[in-house]
Amino acid sequence: MAAFLASPKRITSTFLFFTFNLHPPVSSKNPIGIFDSGVGGLTVANAIVRSLPNEEIIYFGDTAHLPYGDKSADAIRYFSLRISKFLLEQDCKMIVVACNSASSAAYHVLVDFFKGQALFVNVVDPLVEKVAGKRYRKVGVIATKATVQSGMYERQLRALQPDLEIASLATPLLAPMIEEGYVHNEISHAVLQSYLSHPSLQGIDALLLACTHYPLIRPDIEAFFEGKVEIFDSTDVVVSAVRQRLGSKNLLNEQKPQRPHRFYVSDYTSSFESTTRLFYKEEIALEHCPIW
Ligand code: DGL
Repeated sequence: MAAFLASPKRITSTFLFFTFNLHPPVSSKNPIGIFDSGVGGLTVANAIVRSLPNEEIIYFGDTAHLPYGDKSADAIRYFSLRISKFLLEQDCKMIVVACNSASSAAYHVLVDFFKGQALFVNVVDPLVEKVAGKRYRKVGVIATKATVQSGMYERQLRALQPDLEIASLATPLLAPMIEEGYVHNEISHAVLQSYLSHPSLQGIDALLLACTHYPLIRPDIEAFFEGKVEIFDSTDVVVSAVRQRLGSKNLLNEQKPQRPHRFYVSDYTSSFESTTRLFYKEEIALEHCPIW
């Protein structure tokens, strides 16, 4: 593994030579797999559980490798492939890539590689479709370095609205700040003030919170713009996309889930467990699942 990590370009290609015995999902009762680099994707998991209470979920937080936002696209692809393999081995009928960095770097690789074995939903497409439909003049995108460097939001927004002006800004301090519980306080306000006053964001009509950690600081961002800029995050739009995709394949579960939801992390510390409450809004137990 160390050798692979030393050469990220080899990671994906080496991985692609592996063969798997995966079983395509056959029933609406199968769980939905959701993954993120850590606990940020729990904002998406929580929204799915609340809106689709009949669905069983299996969450995987790759805490051994967070943050993804600072990693290369090849490394993120490798991690995403391995986690998706794990989730498919748990018979997930759908995999939600609840991380913008992984959605930007790895979504198309996952769809190609696991073709026909599960439905995949990412967090970028539903947000882009919602925002492009509003016909704004200028929008801002704040995200991790990996998401901004991928250019995914610009490409997809421009494909739907060629005349849209887009300002993308990497805001790498925000995810660790939120994970450390620095929300709604002087430090978080100072960091936000510094990022959100960036000249490139002047004159925006809307701001996309393109990281699954950011819904936690949405009220502070709204307060900064004093209602003059519309703020969007991906939670609700992703839930709609999940409902629509499952419904179109007759895979929405009609009955209460038979098993409790499971929450796995690739590295366990009690600090991760206490942070989960911030993101999931209720007590959950994390299980250590060392897949690496
Ligand atoms: N939650 C991840 C995202 O949406 C960001 C955190 C990280 O950098 O790992 O991009």
